Amino acid sequence: MRKVVAGNWKMHHGPDAAAGFLSRFRPRGVSETVELILFPPDLSLRAVRKAARVPVGLGVQNIHWEESGALTGEVSAEMAREAGASFALVGHSERRHLFGETDDQVGRKVRAAVRAGLVPVVCVGELLKERRAGWLADVLRRQISAFAGALEGVTAFMVAYEPVWAIGTGETATPEDASEAHAIVRETLGARTPAAILYGGSVNPGNAAELMSAPGVDGVLVGGASLDPGVFAGIAEAAAG
Ligand code: 13P
Repeated sequence: MRKVVAGNWKMHHGPDAAAGFLSRFRPRGVSETVELILFPPDLSLRAVRKAARVPVGLGVQNIHWEESGALTGEVSAEMAREAGASFALVGHSERRHLFGETDDQVGRKVRAAVRAGLVPVVCVGELLKERRAGWLADVLRRQISAFAGALEGVTAFMVAYEPVWAIGTGETATPEDASEAHAIVRETLGARTPAAILYGGSVNPGNAAELMSAPGVDGVLVGGASLDPGVFAGIAEAAAG
């Protein structure tokens, strides 16, 4: 199975910077072995699509669950699809913890992504205090049960395990931590089989190969280290082995 290397740019790289990134993003020897996906800001989707020199899947970082409506500032899954996205991140920890997104809303967004023909990449992960309290499995099961119903019979979906304490902190889960959490995710999903379970949280070119060789880790979701074309190419090349 091809490893997935996905970059979540968060609120970085407008259209000009996005085009500049793609003109310099030339990972070597990855086309056969790695599935590349980028999640730029919505306004940069078109620039990424036009400037990409290597095959890159395109996704949005957030969607609303309604198809259209008086919802100022929101974007629907259908609009994302029309703009060229194939994937949608749902339930990223920054959406959950900075913008108050609830488990119930995550479930609705997953349903909307499936309705529009987008591949949902649903993020789950525990806070440091939850991990310390021994609640890892409980948190993951709670988060997953809120959207599992939307994935009945769906195989085109991914889950990203992103422990909140490892996001943007430079602190990475060990490969054993990642394998343990991915096993809980897989078990909780039961008969719903994800296309991939990704690990995210301070992934860089130095730790990517080890994390991706951990049992059950099908790829990585990269934040900060996806912003530089050379660094992100290094992660893609690490995935290619
Ligand atoms: P960092 O790689 O910057 O820790 O971010 C991870 C992340 O949130 C990807 O979605």
